[in-house]
Amino acid sequence: MQTLHVELGDRRYPIFIGSHLDPQALLEPYIKGKQVMIVTNETVAPLYLKHYVTALEALGKKVSTCILPDGEKYKNIEHLNLIFDALLEAGFNRDCTVLALGGGVIGDMAGFASACFQRGVYFIQVPTTLLSQVDSSVGGKTGINHPLGKNMIGAFQQPQVVLADMAQLKTLPPRELSAGLAEVIKYALLGDAEFLTWLEEHMDKLVQGDETLLAEAVYRSCAHKARIVANDEKEQGERALLNLGHTFGHAIESYLGYGEWLHGEAVATGMVMAADLSCKMGWISQNDLERTRKIIARAKLPIVCPQIPLDDFLGYMAHDKKVLNGQLRLILMKNIGQAVITKEFDIDLMKQAILENQQS
Ligand code: NAD
Ligand code: GLY
Repeated sequence: MQTLHVELGDRRYPIFIGSHLDPQALLEPYIKGKQVMIVTNETVAPLYLKHYVTALEALGKKVSTCILPDGEKYKNIEHLNLIFDALLEAGFNRDCTVLALGGGVIGDMAGFASACFQRGVYFIQVPTTLLSQVDSSVGGKTGINHPLGKNMIGAFQQPQVVLADMAQLKTLPPRELSAGLAEVIKYALLGDAEFLTWLEEHMDKLVQGDETLLAEAVYRSCAHKARIVANDEKEQGERALLNLGHTFGHAIESYLGYGEWLHGEAVATGMVMAADLSCKMGWISQNDLERTRKIIARAKLPIVCPQIPLDDFLGYMAHDKKVLNGQLRLILMKNIGQAVITKEFDIDLMKQAILENQQS
């Protein structure tokens, strides 16, 4: 097992990464009070819920569960309320702990519920998708969707601890594993050229689910995210770099309808567009652009999106959270491993990068 810490002063917390981790031993110091609410979904519950209930009951905790339906479409206020119902019906008080057992949807919802319930209670993340292990469980962004926008209602709520168990990735559908690899590749492209070389060496085995290599990829990814979050918890600057490929990706997701493409798939093609624009700007070489395309394709991710009318694409990009005073800012690459947030790009080249990375 490897451990790293998100350095946030007195809110510093550990991320435990390994295979077949022991929740009883690892979680005990981070549980407040006797009451623990495990929030999970209908897919994850039959796989892993019993293991955690047993471990926590062995610690003498009173364990309750809240099992939500599975899917991004349930990441809304109605289903958030089911968590509050469960907490109140089970008589939970302020000295309690909410544990998220699932992917990013469950982590975001349980985290937000823990931030609001009785104005804030303890929160533990047990991410069970690769995407949630390398991204959503770390850094404290929690929330739900609104009919008018994704992740529009939420709170920063850092967990007490994150427990990322590679053994739980065995049951993950291959498409979901690839979606997580998109975020892993993101860390290499935005901040670590050597990590890209490592991924180039190991991608075939990562796609096959090699637990030792996945643990290393999760560790390196979380180390990047932890460093950035420690510097810029509330995204006043550097944290925006974590959105490499996301502005283009959100446009793809929004146009196709959420659920059609997975978030990681849209981010993958978005990163190709960002790299292509960076190349057209003369910042990265053609060779680096091809490396970007190749590593994404080897992760079994799409490098082109379906045809999307340019006006629609630009319309969705204009809704991005990084639009500041009406001006679009993009995360682009000055080099492999050196991303920047910038409004200094040529809009015509951006349009070309969008159009040239669509299916013909
Ligand atoms: P998800 O939570 O929908 O999980 C994907 C699918 O895998 C679901 O069907 C889930 O039930 C299933 N699943 C989960 N673990 C499994 C396992 N071990 N075995 C088998 N199936 C399993 O999707 P996700 O990709 O984990 O997360 C996406 C969500 O995360 C989005 O809502 C996104 O907005 C959010 N997100 C948040 C942040 C953040 O910083 N808070 C960052 C990135 C993404
Ligand atoms: N997923 C982007 C962030 O946590 O800031």
